[in-house]
Formats: sequence, C-alpha cells, structure tokens
Amino acid sequence: MKSKIQNPQSKNDPAFGVRIAGVGSAVPDKVLTNFDLEKLMDTSDEWIVQRTGIRERRIVDPKHEGTFTLGRDALRRALADAGMEGKDLDLIIFASVTAEMTCPSNACRVALEIGATPAGAFDLVAACCGYVYALNVGESMVRSGRYQRVGIIGCDAMSTICDYTERSVSILFGDAAGAAILTRNDGDPSVGCLYQSLNADASMWESLYIPRRCQEIPDKDRENPIRMGCLRMNGREVYKFAVTKFREVIEDALAKSGLTPDQISQFICHQSNVRIIDAAKERMGLSDDRVYVNIDRFGNSSAGSIGLCFDQLWQSGRVKRGDHVVFVAFGGGLTWASSVWKL
Ligand code: UT7
Repeated sequence: MKSKIQNPQSKNDPAFGVRIAGVGSAVPDKVLTNFDLEKLMDTSDEWIVQRTGIRERRIVDPKHEGTFTLGRDALRRALADAGMEGKDLDLIIFASVTAEMTCPSNACRVALEIGATPAGAFDLVAACCGYVYALNVGESMVRSGRYQRVGIIGCDAMSTICDYTERSVSILFGDAAGAAILTRNDGDPSVGCLYQSLNADASMWESLYIPRRCQEIPDKDRENPIRMGCLRMNGREVYKFAVTKFREVIEDALAKSGLTPDQISQFICHQSNVRIIDAAKERMGLSDDRVYVNIDRFGNSSAGSIGLCFDQLWQSGRVKRGDHVVFVAFGGGLTWASSVWKL
C-alpha cells in the first residue's frame, strides 16, 4: 500500500520511549434507541441492527453539552488515571469535526478549564480518524523531545450535525469522547508507537462532507434533502472504501512494525458499521476476542469511537502495559490512519 510517512523506530530515535500514562472517555447520559428513531423517521430496529449492528447510541443535550464538555470530561478522566493535573500538560490536541466554534478552538477552552494554561492547544480535523491522527501527532511531539506531557482528545457530537428527518445517514451516529495522556518515558525506549501512518485522498471527498455554504454542494447532491450544515454521506461508496482500506491498513501496519496478528492483544478499530468490522475480521482471520466492538451500544461516534473503545479495554484490564495494540481508522476526507503501540 502506498504510504507517505512511516516511522518505525530507527537507530536515530532518542533514548526514551513514549508512555500512555492515562486513558479516559466520556459519553452523554441520554440514550437514543432504534425504537426512538422509528418514531422520527421511516425506519425499523430490525433494519438498523441488520445493516449496522447498532441498537442504541448516546446523544448530547445541546442545551448544556457538546464536544467541549465531553472532551473536557474525557481528558479530566485521563489525567486522573495518570495521577496528573491539568497544569502538568505542555500541549493539548483536540480532534473533532463538530467543535462548537472554530475560534477559539476546543483545545484552548479545555486547557483553560482544566488549568493547563499556557500549554499549547489546537484542534485537528480528520473526521473519524481524529483520535488516531491526534495520537500519532502527540506521540511524535513527545518523541521529538520538545514536549514532555501531551493530552490528546478525539471527540464528536455527531447528533448535532445529523438531520433526523432523513434515515440514510442519521441512524448510524452517536456522541462520545476519548482521551489519552502521552508522557516521555525515560525508563524504557522500546515503549511507545512502533509505527504510524497518516493518509488522505480527497478525490472522494464528496462521499462524506458537512457543507456550510451552498457553493460547496456538488451538483449530484443539489436535490439531496439533507439540511445545510448537516452531514451528507454516500453510505455505499464509503462502505466499499472502508472494507478495502481496513484490511490494507492492518496489513501495512503489521508488515511495517514486524508483528504478526497473534502478537497483537487488541485491534482497536473505528466503530463505523459492524459489517465493516466483521468483513475485516473474516478476511484477516482475526478472532472475535481481539477485535473489540461496542457499536451496538454507542453507534458510530466518529473521532470519539476509538478512544472510547480504548478506555473500555484499558479500564477493564483487557489491554495492559507491555501489550501490543493496533489502532485503525478511516473516514471523511477521505482519510485513513494506523498506530501500532507497545503500551
Ligand atoms: O464512520 C465514517 C465512515 N462511514 C461509514 O463507514 C459508513 C459506511 N456505510 C454504511 O455503514 C452503510 O452504507 C449505511 C448503514 C449508511 C447504509 O446501509 P446500506 O446497506 O449501504 O443501505 P443503502 O443505503 O444501500 O440502502 C439500502 C436500502 C434502500 O432501499 P432500496 O433502494 O433498496 O429500496 C434504502 O432506501 O435501504 C433503504 N434504507 C433504509 N431503510 C430503513 C436506507 N436507510 C434506511 C433506514 N431504514 N434507516
């Protein structure tokens, strides 16, 4: 597979590793079930379960919740897990396509709220790849030696950009945040990211986009009834892309990091659609117990999904220090990304 930057550890790497010192997540309390959706649109629980594996998802109450609050709460939990405070962070990276404002960034507001000011802070847009993009950028910043303690967040409140009067897109999505604290680890240089890849190809951007102006809407979508400012997606095209890419990304990550599937404790994958995950598992012969799935309860939460899975695996002890894990994502842009870790 063609990839631009790849960085397996080399002899030029510094004599320190990068540790995931803490992990956290946050989801809203409000549950939106398939039966709730049946009341809003012409759909059925049976169709949604069969086509996506989703039974329910969490959604924010926009009066008092959003990506800022969810991301902040996830980061606070990750800090507590690491035994650290906001003031200990040098940098915060917040990945989202649903930030309440473009300026100031959510990262700046979170930094202020948790007492991290004047840590550097910026938002990053990579759709469903947001968590893996932030993880890879954060790890590289620590690995460079210029930053010691970086907080990364992947978070989306997709319910705020779903048009619940139509059925083809909105049934898929939910809201969630995942966060991690990355710290320099002087004790063991072998710990950290063994391989990472960030990729994008905009030739298919029209398959998944969030228009803010009429000018951006492609001709073929002019008659599309989905509201302005809401997510538009050609599900079938993205599905084909995802099924193909999923396998390629995993094969590439394993080959470049020199690991075999049986050495990986968990493949922590974007929860796009259970059929996409099942297809990858089947094609690669991966067993159920090593590919975590929570889409049935949380839907597809875009940049939030991988961090939420990771936190659930981490807190339950299903992944632990010393384990190898592979993070895999793909989504709008179109983008795809991987990150192979020794935890
Ligand atoms: O995470 C970001 C990346 N995104 C993804 O990975 C999403 C990938 N795509 C998908 O997960 C799937 O394409 C969807 C779940 C979005 C849609 O499933 P699908 O099996 O591709 O359905 P479809 O759009 O091809 O529609 C099949 C049929 C159509 O009816 P006809 O034309 O065959 O009569 C639709 O009108 O199902 C109909 N349909 C529905 N019926 C009941 C579409 N949505 C619904 C619905 N309820 N919600």
